[in-house]
Amino acid sequence: MKFPGPAMYVLVTGAGSGLGKALVEVLHRRSIPLAAFARTAPADVSGDGSVAGAAPLRYEQGDLGDTENMSAVLDRLLGEWGPPSLVVHNASVLKYRGPLWLEPGESVRETLSVNLIAPMLWVARLVPSMLQAGHGGHLFLSSAVGRHSRADWGAYAVSKSAVEVFSDNLSLELPAPLFSLTVNPGPIATKMRRKAYPVHDPASPRTATEAAGILADFLPSLLGPAGRTFNGKKLDLEKMKEIR
Ligand SMILES: NC(=O)c1ccc[n+]([C@@H]2O[C@H](COP(=O)([O-])OP(=O)(O)OC[C@H]3O[C@@H](n4cnc5c(N)ncnc54)[C@H](OP(=O)(O)O)[C@@H]3O)[C@@H](O)[C@H]2O)c1
Repeated sequence: MKFPGPAMYVLVTGAGSGLGKALVEVLHRRSIPLAAFARTAPADVSGDGSVAGAAPLRYEQGDLGDTENMSAVLDRLLGEWGPPSLVVHNASVLKYRGPLWLEPGESVRETLSVNLIAPMLWVARLVPSMLQAGHGGHLFLSSAVGRHSRADWGAYAVSKSAVEVFSDNLSLELPAPLFSLTVNPGPIATKMRRKAYPVHDPASPRTATEAAGILADFLPSLLGPAGRTFNGKKLDLEKMKEIR
């Protein structure tokens, strides 16, 4: 089926700030067509969500927890551009640090909704079109606390370990050339990191621009049939630097 949009594009969630925003900026400069999902689009975006540049960039606005609205937005995107070649499931919240039994219910619900349920629902929406098109991959931003248990990370750690299992199972179920992998980006100086370590940061986080640059250097490896090579992998930025 032919779509009026670009032949390939990358979809990035959480593009309004932090790593997602920096990734969209660097990929746009490198002329990669993009659909950027943000709760609030940047101020310089035109009324129809498009941004001028060498390659198409469209912003879609909405809260990932608003399933009905997100579903309508995805319908429109799929109708106009077809399925993405790669989805970077980046949007996440870190609401709470402390013992699991003291985390407020609202924080547990929002964390699981944004970090786990939304990506699961998006996969359910996007994979059928990807199967039909015969291409498409899912890259999930994970975390060290999703790979190894660590005290006092609340529902955030639970959501990220579940994302690891979700991506693993997805990689076993997706037929080639579709694929799924996770990336632990390590410490990045964003509002999430400041929430995690408000007083003293034990690490020296990369800037969002630096982390996005490493991801952007690696992403072309995922955009062709070779993307499947990374199916089921659990990467971090250091490994990405070695591979690219
Ligand atoms: N920063 C680190 O040190 C670190 C370490 C390990 C893993 N990670 C992972 O890396 C990814 C990027 O993190 P980050 O540091 O860039 O985090 P961040 O600065 O907190 O940015 C998170 C992004 O998710 C968006 N978002 C949150 N809730 C949303 C919702 N309900 N609907 C739509 N968008 C929503 C935010 O939008 P708004 O701008 O509207 O809030 C923001 O754009 C996350 O998956 C995170 O878990 C980060």
